[in-house]
Amino acid sequence: MKSLNEKKQIQLAEEEIKKYASIVESDPNRLRYHLMPPVGLMNDPNGLIYWKGTYHVFYQWMPFQTTHGAKFWGHYTSRDFVHWERQAPALAPSEWFDRNGCYSGSAVDNDGVLTLFYTGNVKDDDGTRHTYQCMAISSDGVRFEKKGVVVHLPDGYTAHFRDPKVWKHENKWYMVIGAQSEQLDGKAVLFRSDDLMHWEHIGAIAGGEGGSFGYMWECPDVFRLSRKDVLIVCPQGLQPEGMHYQNVYQAGYFVGQLNYETGKYVHGTFTELDRGFEFYAPQTMVDERGRRVMIAWMGVPDQDEDQHPTIAYRWVHALTLPRELVLIGDKLYQRPIEQLQLLRSDEVHHPNVFLQKEVRQFDGVKGKTVELLLKHIDGKGVLSIHIQNNVSFSYDFEQKVATLERESFARNGVKEKRQCLLSQLHTIHMFIDTSSIEIFLNDGEEVFTARFFPKEENEHISFQTNAEASFHLSKWKLC
Ligand code: FRU
Repeated sequence: MKSLNEKKQIQLAEEEIKKYASIVESDPNRLRYHLMPPVGLMNDPNGLIYWKGTYHVFYQWMPFQTTHGAKFWGHYTSRDFVHWERQAPALAPSEWFDRNGCYSGSAVDNDGVLTLFYTGNVKDDDGTRHTYQCMAISSDGVRFEKKGVVVHLPDGYTAHFRDPKVWKHENKWYMVIGAQSEQLDGKAVLFRSDDLMHWEHIGAIAGGEGGSFGYMWECPDVFRLSRKDVLIVCPQGLQPEGMHYQNVYQAGYFVGQLNYETGKYVHGTFTELDRGFEFYAPQTMVDERGRRVMIAWMGVPDQDEDQHPTIAYRWVHALTLPRELVLIGDKLYQRPIEQLQLLRSDEVHHPNVFLQKEVRQFDGVKGKTVELLLKHIDGKGVLSIHIQNNVSFSYDFEQKVATLERESFARNGVKEKRQCLLSQLHTIHMFIDTSSIEIFLNDGEEVFTARFFPKEENEHISFQTNAEASFHLSKWKLC
């Protein structure tokens, strides 16, 4: 049973949805095939799980304002990963251990009981922060009952200790938590349990030392893929380095081997997951077919969040498309989940395109909700794709640099860019959804994710080269 206070909070959130539904839905920047909040602010995806034939995506949600605050867990479900249904909010901040927010966490199936782990965030009147790792359970997948605190803050860490990700390995449960040590280094901290209630603190499996790799690590995730152990994490406090670490905070991964007995994790260097502007707090799950699927927040904390034009319509942010992860060597490839093909219509093909010092548009290749696929790409000079007169993707065949450029929505149209090195380019797979773009290069070798907000509504897509380029072009309307 939920407490009276939690029920009241949920009722207030439902009223907020009703009150602003028509304003939210009238926003021309509203996305068509991504998960968004029904009202208010959305951030991290939480509790991703395939459970009893249904996909569950929970998310960090502030229903009452478009800024951060005492978070709820919003909830969507789907049978196929592309058509989603909103469910009642799963968790609301209401108890002594989570009154300032039910922060990020994860879900597991415990013998048929859908079990959530989340961080109870508490702030005293004087600003002192407390953190509790909490549990909630459900037998029907839609009504959740809080079970209280299962992990208290161990010695050696500040109260920036959150985002439990739980999984099972050889009949034991493990939990990894994002942390800040008392020396102010970011860490990923491991716990072990037999029953999900009592947790043994194993220790930090990875982290910076002496300020070498950020002051806080958020939203860790550990999983096994192709006989290696991957740790995804979001370090805060890295300085930009050339084309790297250009966003306010980062999201990336390590690949190595984790010794579950000792908690020793031998791993390689950190690699960013995304090269675009808006990407943070990814979480993964195993799907119906055993694939490792990742969804992230299409936003970054403190990165011009208050400048999104959608705020005028009472909502802000969205989640990325689900992406299948594949490990090749020590490199994670991200591929848009295959079920997205269910959304395709109005197919157009232009095989054997050849461009020479020109800008060209193609019959039927335009729109606001579009999937574009360029295959067998070859060229000289620079190939660019311009979208809605606002955002461009280009590849420089001589410099071997991929660039995403957009008009800033925060600095009145100033052009801003993100870049990465890419030794060759053979495939561009692009998903445009009104005000979001996700670009997968070479079957997911690199990905650029961003929001963009065109000044006037248009459906323009054009292709340009300053030398020459050839490719096969396919396009589908999505939705
Ligand atoms: C990451 C994060 C998490 C935290 C949550 C609060 O974006 O800061 O560390 O649990 O958001 O909404």
